[in-house]
Amino acid sequence: MSDQLIIFDTTLRDGEQSPGASMTRDEKVRIAKALERMHVDVIEAGFPIASQGDFESVQAVANVIKDSTICGLARALDKDIDRAGEALKGANSARIHTFIATSPIHMKMKLRMEPDAVVEQAVRAVKRARQFTDNVEFSPEDAGRSELDFLCRILEAVIDAGATTVNIPDTVGYNLPHQFGNLIGNLIERVPNSDKAVFSVHCHNDLGLAVANSLAAVSQGARQVECTINGLGERAGNASLEEVVMAVSTRNDVFDCNVDHLDRTQIVPCSRLVSSITGFSVQPNKAIVGANAFAHESGIHQDGVLKSRETYEIMRAEDVGWAANRMVLGKHSGRNAFRTRLQELGVTFEGEAELNDAFVRFKELADKKHEIFDDDLLALVTEASLDAENERVKLVALKVCSETGEMPNAVVTLKIDGVEKSASASGGGPVDAAFKAIESMVKSGTELQLYSVNNITSGTDSQGEGSEEHTSELQSRGLISYAVVCLKKKKKEKQKSDSE
Ligand code: KIV
Ligand code: ZN
Repeated sequence: MSDQLIIFDTTLRDGEQSPGASMTRDEKVRIAKALERMHVDVIEAGFPIASQGDFESVQAVANVIKDSTICGLARALDKDIDRAGEALKGANSARIHTFIATSPIHMKMKLRMEPDAVVEQAVRAVKRARQFTDNVEFSPEDAGRSELDFLCRILEAVIDAGATTVNIPDTVGYNLPHQFGNLIGNLIERVPNSDKAVFSVHCHNDLGLAVANSLAAVSQGARQVECTINGLGERAGNASLEEVVMAVSTRNDVFDCNVDHLDRTQIVPCSRLVSSITGFSVQPNKAIVGANAFAHESGIHQDGVLKSRETYEIMRAEDVGWAANRMVLGKHSGRNAFRTRLQELGVTFEGEAELNDAFVRFKELADKKHEIFDDDLLALVTEASLDAENERVKLVALKVCSETGEMPNAVVTLKIDGVEKSASASGGGPVDAAFKAIESMVKSGTELQLYSVNNITSGTDSQGEGSEEHTSELQSRGLISYAVVCLKKKKKEKQKSDSE
């Protein structure tokens, strides 16, 4: 029997480090539930020392998730480890992941520490983490640019100190697959006590090689892969979970490990959820979860697939959950069906009032739109949660004029703390004008730096597409969301500086 490959998801930690992808505590819990439904082995829920918000998110995830191991990140510092231990108290199964940099450039320029001191600090950190849990992971940060002899030395020391997983990060995405595979093979061979720990990898995608590097490592003996949904993560992102998982399962003829324990039909719903929460849309040609991943355009391909699917398909769309995004509800559906489907998608309601509110919105949408897909439901509740969180400012009316040769102008009416106010402004485009009008009333101090509009769902009657009226409706909604994101970011930054 082949080994089971451990899937360690870090969407909530490294994924959240994607600029602009911050998530609230409740959103993190929703994603964690979706990962648990997929039977992901380990969920890295955050970096508890980073802020009070991060601490509470890890705590909330640890308290609700029962089947996956919950992990908290900590630098190799006592205060970080204690904070992680505290956040993970409620977990059924807890892991502390501690790290310190080991590459010459990081030790010299960033840590300003001698290698001996780095080894000493790593050992101390692992021993301290073991006081909270017997499941401890150690990462030599920037391992991809570290010296092999030094890596062997530090890994042997931390395994002796009690690390049960040693994770080799290619922090800056510098390695090529054959190099990274060799690195893992050499480490497993040369570290004397390598049989006492699971070897893991954590690859970044700066050269577009994160998945290839992870798979090369698996073929050389790595038995845990760290990855994220949709490949989110710092800079160019991390190895994408869906690609790693489907490569190992589709090419089980070449790997001597498996991912059979994962419910792969949860992949697409989980990808959709992460995309709708972060606002990061998935490119249509993205492997596995992109809208075109199973679409055949050329006549020759279509003909081939109709005759025999295997001619052009190496996986079945329904095996990764595409069929799950079927038409689920319509205007005759009842409250119970609505609640149940959202529960399946990882959304729970705090009380009857919240459910009723969302149900009213659902009925309004069902009147306009014949087919209600999972994405529609998720968009509906995401919008509802934005409203609930920001009751102080509400959009009452928006009028935008955009005409050839004229400067676009917007007139916006808002209700701020219950008082109605209107303002008008001109701008470089209709969105810029509307944003300026809002800002002149809200005075948040934020600036519009980037704005994009995507359709929320697919289909000819999808939300956000259609007549001009709908477009301005979407723009106003997008704009309010944008303002909310800016305000949330400001709040988050403030929380971070308060905790430092
Ligand atoms: O990329 C990296 O090195 C990390 C570590 C904390 C594992 O994210
Ligand atoms: Zn990373």
